[in-house]
Amino acid sequence: MELNLQGRVALVTGSGSGIGRDTVFKLAEEGCKIVVSDINAGSAHETAEDLRKAGHEAIAVACDVTSEDEVAHLVAQAQQQLGGIDILVNNAGIVKDGYLTKMTEQSWDSVVDIILKGAFLCSRAVLPQMMEKKWGRVINISSRSLFGNPGQTNYSAGKAGLVGFTRALAQEQGRFGVTVNAVAPGFIMTPGMRNLPHFPKLQEAATAKVPVGFLGEPRDISNAVAFLASDVARYISGTTLFVTGGRYSG
Ligand code: NAI
Repeated sequence: MELNLQGRVALVTGSGSGIGRDTVFKLAEEGCKIVVSDINAGSAHETAEDLRKAGHEAIAVACDVTSEDEVAHLVAQAQQQLGGIDILVNNAGIVKDGYLTKMTEQSWDSVVDIILKGAFLCSRAVLPQMMEKKWGRVINISSRSLFGNPGQTNYSAGKAGLVGFTRALAQEQGRFGVTVNAVAPGFIMTPGMRNLPHFPKLQEAATAKVPVGFLGEPRDISNAVAFLASDVARYISGTTLFVTGGRYSG
């Protein structure tokens, strides 16, 4: 299948590591110019450098997605250096797990803000360019946890909220040639996850719950993102694509 993403400019938030890092590589391999962005400036620059070494066009801009000023700076840099953004992937996300009765306000606010306020600020900043070009893609990285995981009321609420955000924004943007979709990953083995001391146990427990019998890799998610970013998916908007190996709630 020809995705025809040649020359598009893609911005992926939180792309200094994990799924975001693989997503920028996948989109670059499909011909996109890349804006790597992360709150961690070092990892953003390293990822952009690795992309350039692999022969791709990429810039890095450090940005905390919860800061309106930093998001404005990010989008201005992308405009100046690469000529505007065609594809936005709202990928930045964190967990701060704990049962609700013991959850601090800070744990609630930081998790929900990065997921929801981040998607709001980044989308609001890039959409005018997309609307003008009459072409754009917004892809929000939600999670299977939107069905509700114990110990993750903050994260589950944020990721479920992101699906509502996706559906509402898709309806606002369709007439401008902009599609808005979400990808909901299941358990994905990122390098960070593999380095956890209890990873073998975690892997065994998680695998038992996945119908296909194995855990996902970042490339399973970045393939879904590239598909939704392409013209092949032009009639898909407002949907959530579950990439979970067949696992849903439970
Ligand atoms: P990760 O921790 O490897 O990557 C997240 C990146 O976001 C990091 O580089 C981090 O520095 C950055 N980040 C954190 N706060 C930020 C902020 N305020 N502004 C900008 N960047 C910020 O995590 P991973 O696993 O790659 O997750 C990526 C996305 O996929 C997240 O939204 C996560 O919730 C989601 N997801 C991951 C799953 C998994 O199994 N790995 C499952 C379901 C969803």
